Amino acid sequence: MNALRFNLNGTWVEETSLPPTTTLLRYLRDSRHLTGTKEGCAEGDCGACTVAVVENDVNGQPVYRAVNACLVLLPMVQGKHVVTVEALSRTGQGDPRSKPALHPAQDAMAKALGSQCGYCTPGIVMTMFEATYRSDLTAPWQLDDQLCGNLCRCTGYRPIRDAATQVAGTCPADSFSKALPGSKPTSMALSYAAGPQRFITPSTFDELWAVLDMHPEARFVVGGTDLSLEITKRFELPETLISLEGLPALKVLDAQTSGFRIGSGVTISELETFAASRLPSLHRMVRYFGARQIKHRGTVGGNLCTASPIGDLAPVLISLGATAVLHSRAGERRVKLEDFFVSYRKTQLAPKELLSAIEVPAVKPDARAVSYKVSKRRELDISTVSAGFYVETSDANVVTVARLAFGGMAATPKRAASAEAALVGQPWSEASIDVAARALKNDFTPLADHRGSAAYRSLVAANVLRGFFDETRADSNRQPALRDGHAATVQPGVPHVA
Ligand code: FES
Ligand code: FES
Repeated sequence: MNALRFNLNGTWVEETSLPPTTTLLRYLRDSRHLTGTKEGCAEGDCGACTVAVVENDVNGQPVYRAVNACLVLLPMVQGKHVVTVEALSRTGQGDPRSKPALHPAQDAMAKALGSQCGYCTPGIVMTMFEATYRSDLTAPWQLDDQLCGNLCRCTGYRPIRDAATQVAGTCPADSFSKALPGSKPTSMALSYAAGPQRFITPSTFDELWAVLDMHPEARFVVGGTDLSLEITKRFELPETLISLEGLPALKVLDAQTSGFRIGSGVTISELETFAASRLPSLHRMVRYFGARQIKHRGTVGGNLCTASPIGDLAPVLISLGATAVLHSRAGERRVKLEDFFVSYRKTQLAPKELLSAIEVPAVKPDARAVSYKVSKRRELDISTVSAGFYVETSDANVVTVARLAFGGMAATPKRAASAEAALVGQPWSEASIDVAARALKNDFTPLADHRGSAAYRSLVAANVLRGFFDETRADSNRQPALRDGHAATVQPGVPHVA
């Protein structure tokens, strides 16, 4: 059937004529006049457009995700439940027939005097709405992460945070907490066309190959956090989009003793949970990846396939020795992730081929593995320089393996071959790391842009490498945990000169 069908604030709706590139934000405001959802930046930076998408997990339990409506295309909520701020007070205390009452998130905002204006508040409340149903918010810094995608233009953050502290993880027993109709996740399968545009969500690889035969020019999309900007900022209107979100094989998260398989359709928030106890260096980078709303939509495959030189996942995954699994009708082939990127924003992917997974070998117990992201802001910012480092040493403290990968230093994410060569065979010592840091000038000739000059990038790259030694020297913890969650960013100006 040629129809978009989803649940909006408790009522199933169908749309048959809207362009598939209509954002959820424009739909809510223009077609449904649900103007509590605001438009601020229209590019995922402010959180004013935050709504919740609710769906059942495999156990039939509702899962809440705060998302930026400005980055979600309407076909991406096929079969799901969308909750906007307008629905909160109607059903806040459980019985929709009862007198309207504030949802606990709204109540806490009002009582803590966290609501300063009508522009940011609805989005903040919707992010807090998700937080009320999270049972994993146990540390104060996690609240910062939950809220970091919502700007308050009057800087009333303290009372907002106070309100979040009161309600986060309280899991209210209201109507939203009940299983949604249908006990399992609903299918996203879709073939929708309106005017010259179409949006297709296959649910099997066979369907995908058939669709590609019909539309070889089609573009793949999953979370759409990048692609939506092309639509809303550059006014590009792709004719055919194929969503990979309906392919269960791309959602695999598998941990074996030999290593890990991470499906390309895994979202960054799912990866964050998975990596927390298994891959600390990856987890640390993922924490600073972006706002909660972005992490719910951005995917591993999307971040890698854009092949941005400042993508956050590539350096740390390269340092961990990751392999990219490429999938086509002919089957799978594997390439080292560092070879996946061939030039600026170009990958090895052939036509009709997709990245299906990343395989990461198990980290040796004594290995030193750390990631760094240097950006102007700690939260919700783009890297100026990022790095993933992995070093193994012998019992005699001699470096046997060194993988030093950087982002923001070249046209692609890249290993520092000269610096690695300077380290291998040498004692793991301050003197060796200093030689390696100086060797970086042979590896990179960084560009200058508005995020940093070439000299700044070179200095930072050398300094994070020295910081890596400081953090993992023999008298430090070799697999450092988050220090109150704030260890991953490096402030410019640390006293090292290359
Ligand atoms: Fe700013 Fe969507 S309008 S994040
Ligand atoms: Fe809108 Fe602070 S709540 S400016």
